[in-house]
Amino acid sequence: MARLIDGKLISKQIKDELKEEAAQLKEQGIVPCLAVIQVGHDPASTVYVNNKKKACAYVGIESKAFELEEDISQQELLNLVESLNQDDSVNGILVQLPLPKHIDEDVVIQTISPKKDVDGFHPVSVGNLWIGDKGFVSCTPAGIIQLLKRSGISIEGKNCVVVGRSNIVGKPMACLMLRENATVTVTHSHTQNLKEITSKADILIVAIGKREFITADYVKEGAVVIDVGMHRNEENKLCGDVNFKEVEPKASAITPVPGGVGPMTIAMLMNNCMDAVR
Ligand code: GUN
Repeated sequence: MARLIDGKLISKQIKDELKEEAAQLKEQGIVPCLAVIQVGHDPASTVYVNNKKKACAYVGIESKAFELEEDISQQELLNLVESLNQDDSVNGILVQLPLPKHIDEDVVIQTISPKKDVDGFHPVSVGNLWIGDKGFVSCTPAGIIQLLKRSGISIEGKNCVVVGRSNIVGKPMACLMLRENATVTVTHSHTQNLKEITSKADILIVAIGKREFITADYVKEGAVVIDVGMHRNEENKLCGDVNFKEVEPKASAITPVPGGVGPMTIAMLMNNCMDAVR
């Protein structure tokens, strides 16, 4: 039986550490502040945004919410971002994605000041990530590094396979594992002989967005398995990209869905907000 990597517990530890730091800052009259912009009323985005606001309140970060109508023009949104760039009372700016089709996400992301880019999506942040160790790092991959480290799982020299190559998870994940001295393979929908590659992984990180895609035959005996996916099965229960029931007996450690990677993303967003102040 695999050890469960408890993201809920580890994210709570991180938020508690940040809470202490925020309390000390408050004594010096400094209150960190995150601006959260949501365009439209997508129910999933509303849930995410509310969770981010709740985490801010817990840690002691002020959140400024901007709820914009679906039909706002791109220019109006850019004007808001630019005014927040200039606003010294705002440390971090987050524009919840996806944006409506008439707005170019890349343009919006590039308008956020890299100094306030707590999502780590700006090309300057991405460049810094690959070149060195400064700048903001995308929250989900940063959270996975924390999950591994705080669970005592060594990364150095390990064979790591990342399944998925998105800008938000797969690519920055590969970079962070490389930084930790793992040997990294990135696979994707065009990869041939995927099973052959994943079954050599000491650490398998799955972010492909396909429900319960990774079955036992993709996994090496004793591997550490990290599941970034989030879906609902036929019984309307949450599940991941990994078939947990099949893979769990074969793995040495595994993240559950829910309660694995998910809570870490928000904890690392809070960490990035504190970093913006630091
Ligand atoms: N939509 C889904 N995930 C994210 C995220 O991490 N940041 C933002 N801004 N939007 C998202």
